[in-house]
Amino acid sequence: MARTPVLAGNWKMFKTVQQTVQFFDEFKHLVAGAAGREIVLCPPFPALAAASEAVRGTSIQIGAQNLHWEAEGAFTGEVSAGMLLGCGCSHVIIGHSERRQYFGETDATVAKRVDAALAAGLTPIVCVGETLEEREASRTEDVLATQFSGGLGHLSSESFGKILIAYEPVWAIGTGKTATPEMAGDAHAFLRAKAAETFGAEAAAGVRILYGGSVKPNNVKGLMEREDIDGGLVGGASLDPESFAAIVRFDS
Ligand code: PGA
Repeated sequence: MARTPVLAGNWKMFKTVQQTVQFFDEFKHLVAGAAGREIVLCPPFPALAAASEAVRGTSIQIGAQNLHWEAEGAFTGEVSAGMLLGCGCSHVIIGHSERRQYFGETDATVAKRVDAALAAGLTPIVCVGETLEEREASRTEDVLATQFSGGLGHLSSESFGKILIAYEPVWAIGTGKTATPEMAGDAHAFLRAKAAETFGAEAAAGVRILYGGSVKPNNVKGLMEREDIDGGLVGGASLDPESFAAIVRFDS
């Protein structure tokens, strides 16, 4: 089954509204005509509405970096799925390792956020990945299996068909150490096998699994050549319009 590549940018806590508008002024021209792929940018909350406005009339899509599972309520500092929709979002990153590491995210809260996003019609980009310690202890597959089952195992096959998965080895994020295409390819194949076991062959063949962790213009092509790698979730290299445009145009 042909899977359309997805190139997604995770801006983390970078860029003001003004910087966001400037980025898109340049970026949208650089990727005009890049067909056969989906492009998603995930700015911080305050810049979401401006980003959505800036990409109007293009095929570029906007995502948030987190959401709360309740629709509204006394949850100071939190943002709901409905609020993200109101800002023009179509996607939301869930369970990024920085959320897991610094903000107490667990597989159980990932599962609740995934449900809330799907119920609202947002596409969750669900992140999984092992730490260096876990890789060195040969626990990568155990960790991926646990995160997969805990965050996604409860879904119906139909709901599973609506999500994106991002494999992001924690040791490769922001470190300049990219997983080799072989290492990433193996982890993606493992996740796809997990998907087949849980949701059936058809769902597994359709799900898009993005690689994240120091994706750059000079290494994206080798990663994208792997059968099971269907896109990238890009941090640092998505902040610059030219570098992210080069990643979006990985095959040209
Ligand atoms: P990086 O971040 O590309 O800067 O390594 C990736 C991510 O955290 O999604």
